[in-house]
Amino acid sequence: MPSLIQLVEQTPLFLITLDQQGKFTGLNPAAEKCFARRTAELLGQPFTTVLDPFSHAKAALMLERTLMEGSVTDWELDHVQPGAPPILIGYTTTVLQNAAGEFGGIGAIGRGLSRQLELTARLADTNQQLEGALLQLEKTYTQLKTTQTQLIQSEKMRSLGQLVAGVAHEINNPAGFVANNLADLARRMPLVQTLFEAYAPLAAKADPAESARLRAAEAAVAISYLWQDLPDLVHESQAGIERIRQIVLSLRNFARLDEARLKESDLNVGLRSTVQIIRSQCHDRITLIEELNTLPKLWCNPGELNQVFMNLLINAMQSIEQQGSIWITSCVDTGKIVVTIRDSGSGMDTQTLARLGEPFFTTKPVGTGTGLGLAICFGIVAKHHGQLTFKSQLGQGTSARVEFPCLG
Ligand SMILES: Nc1ncnc2c1ncn2[C@@H]1O[C@H](COP(=O)(O)OP(=O)(O)OP(=O)(O)O)[C@@H](O)[C@H]1O
Ligand SMILES: [Mg+2]
Repeated sequence: MPSLIQLVEQTPLFLITLDQQGKFTGLNPAAEKCFARRTAELLGQPFTTVLDPFSHAKAALMLERTLMEGSVTDWELDHVQPGAPPILIGYTTTVLQNAAGEFGGIGAIGRGLSRQLELTARLADTNQQLEGALLQLEKTYTQLKTTQTQLIQSEKMRSLGQLVAGVAHEINNPAGFVANNLADLARRMPLVQTLFEAYAPLAAKADPAESARLRAAEAAVAISYLWQDLPDLVHESQAGIERIRQIVLSLRNFARLDEARLKESDLNVGLRSTVQIIRSQCHDRITLIEELNTLPKLWCNPGELNQVFMNLLINAMQSIEQQGSIWITSCVDTGKIVVTIRDSGSGMDTQTLARLGEPFFTTKPVGTGTGLGLAICFGIVAKHHGQLTFKSQLGQGTSARVEFPCLG
């Protein structure tokens, strides 16, 4: 039959008894082994003899509390060990009573915490490694998101550019022959008129019936007005075809497929073409006000910058619900080329302002916005060593400012 004595003798827990002054009155073999001292040596010695000096005050407090409150739990004390680092022991104490029910000393059960500490340290280490891995994962995720945005951007740019260039090409051919034919018509019309006027005396010589028929035919086509109006009609048609030519030029300027690489360019050219393209969508609802000042050339990818202006202009347009205006300005300000696109639209609250440029952030209904426009803009502007900033207030409109350092 196992006895409690065997438990005391064989347990790996440290069992010690102390008197009221905190001097050893007994200890079990596990405690002897841990303190590396024999019972005979320790009996009558203060408990602090086996403690690290840093734990002396804490041990005094442990005894004081035990005497006052009857017990303490998990009181941690450092113990010196010959030739080894201090060992941490967690004590649970209790006041002992003798058979007569009087104070009989203090009993303490100790448990080595070094293994636990080691485990905690290992856990902290693993935790740190995990946090590192998580950070790395977050970084990779952000990079992936940026790459995805760039991919979508280049794909968007490519297909938009191809579409625009295709449309421009298709319009260019018929517009070209209409312009040529009109020029031809304008050149030949006076000849026809001269010929017609040469026939006039012959008509006068015709017999009265024939002459009356000719005068009636002339009256039916209002010949005198016709000769008056025809040059105007041709002239107006030529002006119309010239406008179409300008639009085609703008579309080609905008697409700039031939200029995938960097070149010196005037931002106003791109701005004008882009404004021209969106003008048709403004109708009478939105007034576009351009104030473009002479700019020095910028070393840039013009097609990409047109994409920035386009995205900003579309956002400005979409922010105007009913009637409104968009002001487009360019100038040089303290050594920088500055383009601003300001609208009288809905404006933004501070939360929206803070999230601008975050890929896939949109407040527009599903199917209207992908939330990539500004992410693309920020990317392109940063690539050109420029800055894109916004000022906005809810209900007060928005001002987008793009600036680039001047050449030189
Ligand atoms: N001029 C502006 N006025 C008011 N809100 C704006 C303006 N520009 C941007 N925003 C806000 O910023 C959000 C993000 O704009 P962004 O251009 O990146 O995406 P989007 O316009 O929603 O979608 P996408 O441009 O991909 O079609 C918009 O949904 C809108 O809430
Ligand atoms: Mg947008």
